[in-house]
This record gives sequence, C-alpha cells and structure tokens, in this order.
Amino acid sequence: MKIAVIGPGSMGAGLGRHLAAAGHEVRVGSRDAERAREKASEIGASFGGGYHEAAAEADALLLTIPWWGVDEVLGELGDAPSGAVLIDVTNPYKDDTFAELVEFSGSSGAEEIQRKVPGVRVVKAWNTVFAPVVASGPDFGGQAASVFVAGDDAEAKETVMRLARELGYDPVDAGPLSSARFIEPLAGLMVRMAYGLGRGPNQALKLLTR
Ligand SMILES: NC(=O)c1ccc[n+]([C@@H]2O[C@H](COP(=O)([O-])OP(=O)(O)OC[C@H]3O[C@@H](n4cnc5c(N)ncnc54)[C@H](OP(=O)(O)O)[C@@H]3O)[C@@H](O)[C@H]2O)c1
Repeated sequence: MKIAVIGPGSMGAGLGRHLAAAGHEVRVGSRDAERAREKASEIGASFGGGYHEAAAEADALLLTIPWWGVDEVLGELGDAPSGAVLIDVTNPYKDDTFAELVEFSGSSGAEEIQRKVPGVRVVKAWNTVFAPVVASGPDFGGQAASVFVAGDDAEAKETVMRLARELGYDPVDAGPLSSARFIEPLAGLMVRMAYGLGRGPNQALKLLTR
C-alpha cells in the first residue's frame, strides 16, 4: 500500500519504519520538506516532502501530529485522495503539558477529524500504544499488544486491522468511529500511569478474551 506519514515524530517515524520494512511504499510528510526527506531516508521511505505532496495518491494517511496542529495540517490535506483511509493516531490533548484531554460533547477527536475531512475514511488506531513500544515492537513475552480499531467503514477498518496484524499487533475491532469517545480517554489513563505515576512507557494494553 502507499501510506503517507503525516507527522514524522516518534509515532509517525516509528510506525513508518515498520510499515516500510513490511514492504509498503511509505511517503513522509512534514511542515519542512528537507526534514521529511532526511526522515524518509532514515526510515526506508520512498518519498519525503510537504504534507500535501506526501498525501497525494496515498491509499492511507497515518495522522501522527499533536492535536493542536490538526486544523492547520488537515487544511493541507483538503484534497487528499477521495476514499483514502485516514488512520487517526492522535490523542486530543489540550496542550503540551499533556494534562487534559479536550472534552467533546457527544463526539471525539476522531469524529471531529472525519467531519473536517469528509472525503476520507477515518479509522482510529494505535493511539493507546506508546512510541517506545512501537519502536521496539509489540511483543511482550509472547503476548502481542492490542490495538483498538474503530471506524464506520468496514473495508477501511479491515485494512487497518490487517496492517496491525502485519506489524505483529493484536488488532481488536472496537466498533464504529464513535467508540473513539472511549478509546481516547483510555490513552489518557495510559499516559497518566506512564508519566504521572512513574510506571514508564514500556507497557501496553492487552484485551483478554475467553
Ligand atoms: N508518543 C506517544 O507515545 C504517543 C502514543 C500514542 C498516540 N500519540 C499521539 O500521536 C500524535 C503524535 O505524537 P508523537 O509523540 O509522535 O509527537 P511528536 O514526536 O512530537 O511528533 C509530532 C509531529 O507532528 C508534526 N507537527 C505538525 N504540526 C505540528 C504542530 N503544530 N506542532 C508540533 N508538531 C507538529 C511534527 O512534524 P513536522 O514539524 O516535521 O511537520 C512532528 O514530527 C499525538 O497526537 C499524540 O497524542 C502519541
């Protein structure tokens, strides 16, 4: 698949590196085209440039930017390929103190993104997985970290679940995009435990089923 990394920071570059290693054509976008080119060559991606160029012709967009950058960056993706899958990895923190999530009344960050870019198919995924886990891989002593996957388009959701499986995760179908209302606060709990309570980021959620 042609996958555009929209935001080449710890999550974007981390997932992008594994997706490229798995044989996908990864295109890196950044506000700074030179930085994107450097990051692209570092992670084995085939292209680096501005957000707009990276997204052009992509089958999937991996949105890995801070919440406060979303409006500006989505503006550059306005004419992203119609029907592309937008994998929303963001957590809607108010600011970089990461103390508070934006409270949406009857909505979520993912649903707001879908409303702003109606031509793409938004799927929430990976937002509860920490960047160091993404970097080192999802295996915890034989148990794969879960990725909660929520979206309204069945085919788009299956595409993201397949990508997660390819990278060794245990994808969990969490239902429609509105489930992001519950998955985003779950990431808030993980961040509080990792950084507020000192457990560190080398932990992941696993859904146990019987
Ligand atoms: N870190 C984690 O463990 C983790 C886990 C799950 C989910 N998330 C979520 O994933 C998203 C990305 O997190 P991250 O840790 O990868 O962030 P990061 O390392 O800070 O990278 C964010 C990237 O977003 C781009 N960006 C675009 N607009 C921006 C703006 N206005 N301000 C700052 N950066 C901007 C930057 O790239 P350019 O400057 O090159 O454009 C930067 O490389 C966030 O929404 C976060 O809540 C993070």
